[in-house]
Amino acid sequence: MGEYAAVFQKSVDNPEQFWADAAKGISWYSPWEKVLDASNPPFYRWFPGGTLNTCYNAVDRHVEGGRAEQTAIIYDSPVTSTVRRISYGELQGQVATFAGALASLGVGKGDTVVIYMPMIPEAAVAMLACARLGAVHSVVFGGFAPHELAIRIDHAQPKVLVTASGAIEGKKVLAYKPMVDTAIEQSTHRVDGVVVFQRDFVTAELQAGRDHDWQALVAKSEPVGCTPVLATDPLYILYTSGTTGMPKGVLRDNGGHAVALHWTMKNLYDINPGEVWWSASDVGWVVGHSYIVYAPLLQGSTTVLYEGKPVGTPDAGAFWRVISEHRVKALFTAPTAFRAIKKEDPNGERLADYDLSSFACLYLAGERTDPDTLHWAENKLQVPVIDHWWQTETGWAIVGNCRGIEELPVKEGSPTKPLPGWDVRVVDDGGKEVARGQEGNIVVKLPLPPGTLVTLWRNDERFVKSYMTRFPGYYETSDGGYMDADGYLYVMGRMDDVINIAGHRLSTGAMEEIIANHPDVAECAVFGADDQLKGQLPVGLFVVKAGVSRDGGEIAAELVKMVRETIGPIACFRDARQVARLPKTRSGKILRGTMRSIANSKEYRTPSTIDDPAILGEITDALLQMGYGKKES
Ligand code: COA
Ligand code: AMP
Repeated sequence: MGEYAAVFQKSVDNPEQFWADAAKGISWYSPWEKVLDASNPPFYRWFPGGTLNTCYNAVDRHVEGGRAEQTAIIYDSPVTSTVRRISYGELQGQVATFAGALASLGVGKGDTVVIYMPMIPEAAVAMLACARLGAVHSVVFGGFAPHELAIRIDHAQPKVLVTASGAIEGKKVLAYKPMVDTAIEQSTHRVDGVVVFQRDFVTAELQAGRDHDWQALVAKSEPVGCTPVLATDPLYILYTSGTTGMPKGVLRDNGGHAVALHWTMKNLYDINPGEVWWSASDVGWVVGHSYIVYAPLLQGSTTVLYEGKPVGTPDAGAFWRVISEHRVKALFTAPTAFRAIKKEDPNGERLADYDLSSFACLYLAGERTDPDTLHWAENKLQVPVIDHWWQTETGWAIVGNCRGIEELPVKEGSPTKPLPGWDVRVVDDGGKEVARGQEGNIVVKLPLPPGTLVTLWRNDERFVKSYMTRFPGYYETSDGGYMDADGYLYVMGRMDDVINIAGHRLSTGAMEEIIANHPDVAECAVFGADDQLKGQLPVGLFVVKAGVSRDGGEIAAELVKMVRETIGPIACFRDARQVARLPKTRSGKILRGTMRSIANSKEYRTPSTIDDPAILGEITDALLQMGYGKKES
């Protein structure tokens, strides 16, 4: 048995022993009563009774352990021409003082704080300060429009909101504060205070009595220590797209999260304390939570926080510059970033300008790594390129190639094998395991390992219904795929209405809810069409109400604007078209999957339940005119 197989076997034969051993990598104030409480399935709790502080583990213990001078965060911002290094000692001071500032605004253990920040170190400082106090943060990605921020404010009910005056997105200057003000106006929950980090290229107006200038507040605040919390106490809520307009508030606890993330840094990513790691994502996504902030700091390594894009800031050599300038050992990003680089610099000529001798591995996730991108990156970089599969819900990878244990051969199209702790199965719709090579629903046998979602915030019922009901005893991933004879998993895509745009997860259902609000629209369907750069893009088809005679193009433009203003620019909703009718089953269910197949030129079978098969021809024509699908031969 190889090293990976042995470790994996140990983790499924005796998960409690396995994770108790991993928990030794974390400093605890008091030990847990038991490793796993399985008394109330499907609500499993890891390390109940144990106390710790996540911020202590990510910051203070490294200072105490002799890493005060080591760089914790390298802030690299081509959009503001800044490079700043923050040592663990400095980070401790900043986090402790900002925690004091939050405490002065009444934030304490168990309170929630919403963070709406661009990619600046203060975003990480705010997250860690919450963890220090035992407060629960909820970071909202900056590309979401005020309406989405308002939904999250109302659901998370924060005492305080932390933001910045603005961001530079590529070449655009964005003022955040007006968006925050609109979101606060739109929400019914009232925040006690707003803390604004003023950036020098855009100044926010502060509302007296409610808003506080970050720097001024910090100047009059005292540093505070770490509050011990239970392993099972919440650390953060991260909202992610479900199948409706109401996102799911994934809840992560403190103990399991710290144990699992710390374990992955060496065992999955092969990163040791003191080494430089770069996750080119955004703190607003799960990858940013886990691998820009928590995991690298829990490991005592150095994390690069990059405020820029793979291309255009200033060019397709941006990633190579960061790797060479900061001696990065490994980079984690989404395949779409590499497709963007490949498009601008197909021969990889920019690589010649940089010394990448520090670079050992590229990790890709967020969407399937297509073979073209895989081979291009392997050829140009001459290092292993490792795909790995995970979800906001899981917090860390379900399937990957554990290079810190044993590097397995890469097979294109597969993220390799289940990580230790993950008993992954492929089942048919009736829950029966299918043969190797046959496609089905990917599920994970319960209990999930530590660090995964413990529930949905204030919605146990939706947690059970969304993930634990369809296949009793298993977590439903909503991804489909198959396992080959060697145990390699192939993830073929979502089985629900969630799509992946440039590694960002969005809900077509949420887009439909917005479009349906247009006064002229009778019904609509939004589905994902394959896109060479971004993986998928949303396409909308709509039917107008009887008596509406306006130009369909005009209505389509209004729908595009509505989605952009309501969800935000990252929805990338640019393609809508009027059709006379939509294909449906006889019971009235819109056949989105069939339309998706047509748009993506995939074989499909006309469903036997279809009301009128002739409509599929009309849809094919409409999609062809939009540039999707191919003519029937
Ligand atoms: N704040 C505000 N707006 C944002 C934003 C943010 N943080 N991030 C993106 N947007 C905006 C963009 O400016 C763009 O607006 P536009 O329609 O006015 O041009 C829109 O949202 C779409 O953004 P994006 O999908 O990122 O497209 P892009 O053309 O700007 O960049 C890529 C394309 C491929 C370079 C970019 O998507 C990328 O770097 N992807 C990597 C994704 C990633 O790291 N995912 C995390 C999971 S690991
Ligand atoms: P998110 O919650 O935003 O991380 O998105 C999770 C979804 O992205 C998964 O359910 C998958 O559909 C997709 N995904 C993420 N990583 C991969 C991967 N390596 N291969 C295939 N799909 C992936």
